[in-house]
Amino acid sequence: MKKQKSRRSGIVIMSRLIVLLGSLAYAMLFAVLNGSLGFLSAMGITIFGSLGIAKALGASIALSYGWIIGLTIGLGIIRGLLRFIEQYLNHFIAFRLLAVLRNKIFIALRRLCPAKLEDKKKGSIIAMITADIETLEVFYAHTVSPVCIAIAVSLTMLAILFFAISPYMALVALIGYLTIGIVFPLVFSSYLKNDGVSYRKSFSLFNAFYMDSIKGIKDIVLHNAGDKRREEVNKKSDELLLHARRLKRKTTLSFALTELAVSVFTLLAVVVGIWLYQKDIIDIGKMIVGIVIIFGSFGPVIAISALPSNLTQTFASGERVLNLVDEKPIVYPIEGKENFVFENLKVQNLSFGYDDSHKVLQDICMHAKQGEIVGIIGESGSGKSTLLKLLLRFWQKSEGDIFYNDKDIESVNTDSLLDNVTMVSQSTYLFDDTIKENLLIANKDATLAQLDEALRQASVYNLIKSLPEGYNQQAGTLGDNLSAGEKQRIGLARAFLRGSKLILLDEPTSNVDSINEGIILKSLKDSKKDKCIILVSHRESTMAIADRVYKIEDGKIKEVR
Ligand SMILES: Nc1ncnc2c1ncn2[C@@H]1O[C@H](COP(=O)(O)OP(=O)(O)O)[C@@H](O)[C@H]1O
Ligand SMILES: [Mg+2]
Repeated sequence: MKKQKSRRSGIVIMSRLIVLLGSLAYAMLFAVLNGSLGFLSAMGITIFGSLGIAKALGASIALSYGWIIGLTIGLGIIRGLLRFIEQYLNHFIAFRLLAVLRNKIFIALRRLCPAKLEDKKKGSIIAMITADIETLEVFYAHTVSPVCIAIAVSLTMLAILFFAISPYMALVALIGYLTIGIVFPLVFSSYLKNDGVSYRKSFSLFNAFYMDSIKGIKDIVLHNAGDKRREEVNKKSDELLLHARRLKRKTTLSFALTELAVSVFTLLAVVVGIWLYQKDIIDIGKMIVGIVIIFGSFGPVIAISALPSNLTQTFASGERVLNLVDEKPIVYPIEGKENFVFENLKVQNLSFGYDDSHKVLQDICMHAKQGEIVGIIGESGSGKSTLLKLLLRFWQKSEGDIFYNDKDIESVNTDSLLDNVTMVSQSTYLFDDTIKENLLIANKDATLAQLDEALRQASVYNLIKSLPEGYNQQAGTLGDNLSAGEKQRIGLARAFLRGSKLILLDEPTSNVDSINEGIILKSLKDSKKDKCIILVSHRESTMAIADRVYKIEDGKIKEVR
């Protein structure tokens, strides 16, 4: 398994993330346009207001008072409308985005599975799906558009100042925008970075510890370890508070510095404005309007200086999501080749290793055909489950051949393979849905009679019937009340329901008592005439019903009966 570890630059990550937006990019562009126009009309209100004041102070303003008041009111209404549209679009984009991102990640995982989720890093993938998507939502909804709005608004203001007021005033504004919108964010981001990272680390540590404590509360009570646990929770909570305080102190300081800078540049605008007026370079009207423009136009760049605390995190999240989307699957699905109806299986000189250094299976040769129950026995860790996964092409074999009806597994369509071969794995996952839906996943068209029959075969019929709501019982409400053996039997019922010709059973009775094992094995025997069953177990007793038995030892296989 090769891991791609490409480090992308911030620009590459950002542009790739924008591309991921697809058609939502247009909605975002429209939102930015609305946001910019909205801010400009808000500025317009102040500008026309100051024009009115300038006119009252005797400046020669071509507009009548009526026009000034009319324009101010008009802009106020437009501002409201634009703000509404902008907010609407932003929320529309944000929520659509969550859906789009989840979909993209699901598709990526679907492509990479099941090999990917067997990885030791399964936990971090699940963390990624939840945490990274949330972070990216912040990026799309609250980072991209403020930056674009700041650029659009600042450029417009600079143009107005330059052409309509004075290049000197434009220069003051330019220095102000660059300082607050670019220099400050860069300085703050390195100033806050370490504290931000350690705060988040401590935050997730605390959360994990707290969740762990709640999950394990029964064992804490059982061992009377409550006091000690509480002490630890308190200690971790204090640590978190310490990090939060330090981060808060620093962010507050950077906000204060930003506000200070705004005041300094406004003051500078006043000084330059008065100087220009005294030198007769501009009249009083231009002076007032110029100062008001500069004073009022820092909003968008202030928004940028508030961003950096989460930007590094955003890039890290973005990179993880992109890595997943780009990752090449270990096996590609096969389409457009041959379909088959299972009659027999032949494995020749099959070898496989999860990594190059160690071969789990070597030179495996075996066969099985319809009407047979074939047993595979071997100690835990000997490679039994691995062999079954190779038969389903969950992993890519290294050497050797697998033939179904003499067709190479690599030339059989994946859909057809999964229709013909099913596996009951060592642990069965139950979705948080009714028992019925949990069974129908194996065959969505199954009738009630078929469901009953499958449950009986799997020796779980009485259990389901005894539930207060029977088939309609939510599996989630049962939670831990279903034992591993009961879950396993539901898994088995799914396999019967699926109706596949080849059933691979991975330790199907390992969590089942001997009475139920007897029932299950009997129904396997009864249903074998039109099927083939490969039965894997580390238990000798389970092998009693097998027609032939193979033993796996040190990666090698031999027929023992
Ligand atoms: N996804 C995986 N990645 C790396 N090694 C694995 C993986 N799954 C199983 N192994 C290793 O392969 C060997 C065989 O495992 P497995 O087929 O599950 O054995 P069995 O089912 O006989 O108990 C073990 O040493 C196990 O640790
Ligand atoms: Mg196993």
